[in-house]
Amino acid sequence: MKPASSLSLFMLLLCGAALADDDDDVTYRKDIRPLWEQKCMACHGEGAPYLAEFDENKDKYKELNRGPRMDTYANLVAFVGWPDSGALMRRLDDGSNTKDGKPGNMYRNLGADELERQKNLALFKAWVGEKGWVLKHFDELTRKELGRMRVAE
Ligand code: HEC
Repeated sequence: MKPASSLSLFMLLLCGAALADDDDDVTYRKDIRPLWEQKCMACHGEGAPYLAEFDENKDKYKELNRGPRMDTYANLVAFVGWPDSGALMRRLDDGSNTKDGKPGNMYRNLGADELERQKNLALFKAWVGEKGWVLKHFDELTRKELGRMRVAE
């Protein structure tokens, strides 16, 4: 085979691999939404207040066990990239990336036992992107880090 044609064959194979990978990608609709309904919706569903209202009446909502509303793709992504950058990662992390080495306080909601929690954390991580799993607030976040957050719909 001539170098040129083996190169284009190689390119084709690469594209094929990339497409196949795409099918396996974790998406909101396929993976995160069902998990969210199971594990998060009771407290973050449509009965929950939007973040601004939640912040204004935090004590009241905490008492009611209501967190801020995350009931759509856009409403959830707001806790990943912006404006509440990194909130999802800070709360769900198992302690591997937190400053104090303790799990975020939503980690326990990921499952009934450690095995289930780890499995579901892995799913959230794959959705955000292993490299995009950054726990920083917006003012500390670099554009590069922001760009690594994938959150496919
Ligand atoms: C039993 C109720 C309950 C469940 C279930 C629950 N949460 Fe929460 N969540 C809360 C409450 C209450 C708060 C606000 C109090 C606090 O900050 O800890 C909160 C806060 C949060 C925050 C921080 C929001 C902010 O102000 O920045 C995130 C992110 C979050 N939850 C994500 C999740 C995810 C993802 C799940 C599902 C895996 C989940 N929570 C399951 C009750 C719950």
